[in-house]
Amino acid sequence: MEGKGFIFDLDGVIVDTAKYHYLAWKELANQLGINFTEEHNELLKGVSRVKSLEILLGVGDVTLSDTEKVRYMEEKNTRYLEYVAKMDESEILPGIKELLAFLKENKIPFSLGSASKNARVILEGVNLLDAFTAIVDGNDVSKAKPDPEVFLIAAEKLKLEPKNCIVIEDAAAGIEAAKRANMKSVGIGEEEMLGAADVLLDSTAKLTVALAKELLN
Ligand code: BG6
Ligand code: MG
Repeated sequence: MEGKGFIFDLDGVIVDTAKYHYLAWKELANQLGINFTEEHNELLKGVSRVKSLEILLGVGDVTLSDTEKVRYMEEKNTRYLEYVAKMDESEILPGIKELLAFLKENKIPFSLGSASKNARVILEGVNLLDAFTAIVDGNDVSKAKPDPEVFLIAAEKLKLEPKNCIVIEDAAAGIEAAKRANMKSVGIGEEEMLGAADVLLDSTAKLTVALAKELLN
């Protein structure tokens, strides 16, 4: 098992924050008179904050100036952080704590590789800030997924060859980023969206220690 490690996406893999992103974007959509549904919200998974706003504006065919865009993103983020502030350990998705404990016990390095600029505050809320060997988030990258930058920086921090990294992702953009980084990928979700993943699971509950051992061999 030597020389390999894991890179975890945050939103949708460690915690289910998509519902809070949705609520916060929905409030903005209402303000702008845009009919934004949970289906539309699927399009925002794994996508950067600025791209999310563009998708939302596209749904409503609304045009904003750059200054307005910045202001609305700040407003959305403030609302999102109000939801995040109420998070605790109970929001860690099934199987994750057990898997991280196994990796830690066996000294297998693992990094966060997230698009979110709020990653640290979320990890702190669910008491996982100190669990990771390294953390790479939206503040560390200049190019969003599907660009492989976030995962390549994580590999560097883990001191691992990309080909020895296993990425866990719930978004199509993340699976594509893993492929472009020459890493193995595990998709959490549906075939329709994540068919390109090397291993596909319908829930983090299937991310067992037994599977991790297989992936490491
Ligand atoms: C990703 C989420 O992890 O982070 C996206 O899946 C989100 O939905 C992106 O837009 C950026 O998050 P944040 O917290 O920086 O607005
Ligand atoms: Mg995700």
